[in-house]
Amino acid sequence: MIYLDNAATSYPKPQEVYDRVYSFMKETCANPGRSSHEMARKSAECVNNTREGLAALFNIDDPMRIGFTPNATYALNMAIQGVLRKGDHVVTTAMEHNSVLRPLYELKKNGIISYTIVKPKNRFGEIDAYAISKAVGINTRLIVLTASSNVTGTIMPYAEVGEIARKRGVYYLLDASQGAGVLPIDVKKMNITMLAFPGHKGLLGPQGTGGLYVDERVPLRSIIQGGTGSRSFETIHPSFMPDILESGTLNTPGIAGLGAAVDFILKTGTKAILEKKEQLTKLLYERLSGHKKIRLYSTCEDHKNSGIIAFIIEGMDSSEIAGILDSKYHIAVRPGFHCAPLAHRELRTEKSGLVRISIGYFNTPDEIQYAADSIIEIADNA
Ligand SMILES: Cc1ncc(COP(=O)(O)O)c(C=O)c1O
Repeated sequence: MIYLDNAATSYPKPQEVYDRVYSFMKETCANPGRSSHEMARKSAECVNNTREGLAALFNIDDPMRIGFTPNATYALNMAIQGVLRKGDHVVTTAMEHNSVLRPLYELKKNGIISYTIVKPKNRFGEIDAYAISKAVGINTRLIVLTASSNVTGTIMPYAEVGEIARKRGVYYLLDASQGAGVLPIDVKKMNITMLAFPGHKGLLGPQGTGGLYVDERVPLRSIIQGGTGSRSFETIHPSFMPDILESGTLNTPGIAGLGAAVDFILKTGTKAILEKKEQLTKLLYERLSGHKKIRLYSTCEDHKNSGIIAFIIEGMDSSEIAGILDSKYHIAVRPGFHCAPLAHRELRTEKSGLVRISIGYFNTPDEIQYAADSIIEIADNA
């Protein structure tokens, strides 16, 4: 199978990740932060090593400002529901995932917040930072932006938006689901007050991992209360990081594997990872562009694409194309709407959906050539 569904979850992982998960589960698998025996201490050390790796990657001064979550959706909910209060206004975009949109819809439905949704300026889903700036009003408390589109791969002006948030005194939540481990993300330079990330996509860690960084100036409330191993006699859930986010037993084997993945990324460098993905993306783009039946929704302009080519073949549904790629050519891609309904509405693809090819660091030029040949063959026969 040729795996081109890395925006959903990355595969394969670096060998070190498999090794670390196995050795952790075999040798150390105790509950961190709950007891003081040697195995628990080793578990806690392993979790904190992963925190330190992530802090180095995102230029976070204090690793304890990162809390682990099961995925990006939990991190986004903890940030959105944890920071917004009655009367707040939020600025976000039509390119966001349902894990941003649905918590906002829910808060609006309950009469708590209002929001403005900024629309993209072209069919690649590009968002204009100026349009975000214009949408910020007097009661805006939060801007939420995806680092890059999970539909088209278009990289958003997330550093510029950080500057806007800083100047306007607004909290800034970056959804780094399509960017962490690939794009340069520096919370200090980019004024990112909250950073939500999955561990299992570009960070190359196991599924069931993710996290949220919260700047010390953000007065977050917990949305899930429970055992943390700290202050057990207090009736109120701890308000300090990371315990505020880490109720219950952590996915410690997953976090151990994520630590190995982050070490791999730090060693390889996001610059080299992005460059490789850009080369493969360009290769695919160039092979597919120009075919009269293939319509592309991704750009391959330099530094504008995080590694996705979205397309449709005239007269076909995206599920049909993905089905043929799977059954006849053994290529894994994702059709449909990618949990991003507003993006598809804006791109006018809400009927057919799009086929999303998402390239990973371990894909090869031969695999990309084969995928391009296969798509062209399907289009020729359409
Ligand atoms: C932009 C974006 N945000 C959020 C998510 C949710 O990530 P997770 O599945 O880790 O909860 C995804 C997943 O595809 C995504 O692409």
